[in-house]
Amino acid sequence: MGIGSKLMAFAGLLCMLLLLPLAASQAQTQQQQPQARAVGVTQWSDDEAHFNRTLDSILVPRVVGSPGHQQVRDYLVQSLSGLGFQAEVDEFKQRVPVFGELTFANVVGTINPHAQNFLALACHYDSKYFPNDPGFLGATDSAVPCAILLNTAKTLSGYLQKEFRNRNDVGLMLIFFDGEEAFKDWTDADSVYGSKHLAKKLAQVVRKDPAGQFQQAPRNIDRIEVLVLLDLIGARNPKFSSFYENTHGLHTSLVQIEKSLRSAGQLEGNNNMFLNRASGGLVDDDHRPFLEENVPILHLVATPFPDVWHTPRDNAANLHWPSIRNFNRVFRNFVYQYLKRHTSPVNLRFYRT
Ligand SMILES: *[C@@H]1O[C@H](CO)[C@@H](O)[C@H](O)[C@H]1NC(C)=O
Ligand SMILES: [Zn+2]
Repeated sequence: MGIGSKLMAFAGLLCMLLLLPLAASQAQTQQQQPQARAVGVTQWSDDEAHFNRTLDSILVPRVVGSPGHQQVRDYLVQSLSGLGFQAEVDEFKQRVPVFGELTFANVVGTINPHAQNFLALACHYDSKYFPNDPGFLGATDSAVPCAILLNTAKTLSGYLQKEFRNRNDVGLMLIFFDGEEAFKDWTDADSVYGSKHLAKKLAQVVRKDPAGQFQQAPRNIDRIEVLVLLDLIGARNPKFSSFYENTHGLHTSLVQIEKSLRSAGQLEGNNNMFLNRASGGLVDDDHRPFLEENVPILHLVATPFPDVWHTPRDNAANLHWPSIRNFNRVFRNFVYQYLKRHTSPVNLRFYRT
């Protein structure tokens, strides 16, 4: 995506969408949102050796259709299986600018696939095609976010494999979107290919027949309580604002967890990543097709964008490790608390009249 086009989308979407959340969500979110109460944070071991191995495996040029792309796709499937997730690949072919027909593949891992609802965590694993820079790595965009998802699963695996497994109220879904990047210029058509495909697939009406009679099951997309999308993470001192009114309570719990970890001396430096304020605009990204299906979105994208964004400098040498460690620590506590405290369906959806 070009800087102009992504910022334009930032301004353009604003008009369309802010009306909806402000008017509609006030009433029901107050009672439904998990409260941002004082949080008891847990000390989890970082397993940074795992994080580093994971990042090394993802941090190769991985433009859709390239050998690196296939290699990373296989790696994600393997890693998810190894962590006890049921791994699935959502593969499809599509014609795109520049390349013509390409094969895309979203990779999805699930624990408790038969649960009523899901917490979904997502990133994109494709890297952007630059005709003049075949070595583009996209460290923050989005190798680090994908490594964060796998490291979250790894560090919480004791909990996920024992206590959490076989829960009926909630499952955990890790989504690695393919084809987020535009091949030419960022437009609604030339972007988020994988996410569009997966949202459409999950939005299909499924019928089940448990007792000899047809019954309409809830659409799978309606079982996602919140889609947490990570993007552009790994540069020094990122800032995360709250983008959507209906998930503001969840954003606030990130603010609180960061605060608690900092006062417990478990964070490095003193940059506050999670700002307790609404963003002045929106960033167009993989959540768009899910938002259009009314899935609640928690968009964890650094704004302003890292200054290495879409340049050859978005590589390992320019990552800021204290910021990455801090994000990992806050994020794994957030995921743990969400799952641990969950007992009944959480409905943060906007009501439409
Ligand atoms: C992970 O990699 C970073 C950057 O190379 C390094 O500073 C850190 O010590 C590594 N951590 C481990 C546990 O190897
Ligand atoms: Zn990008």
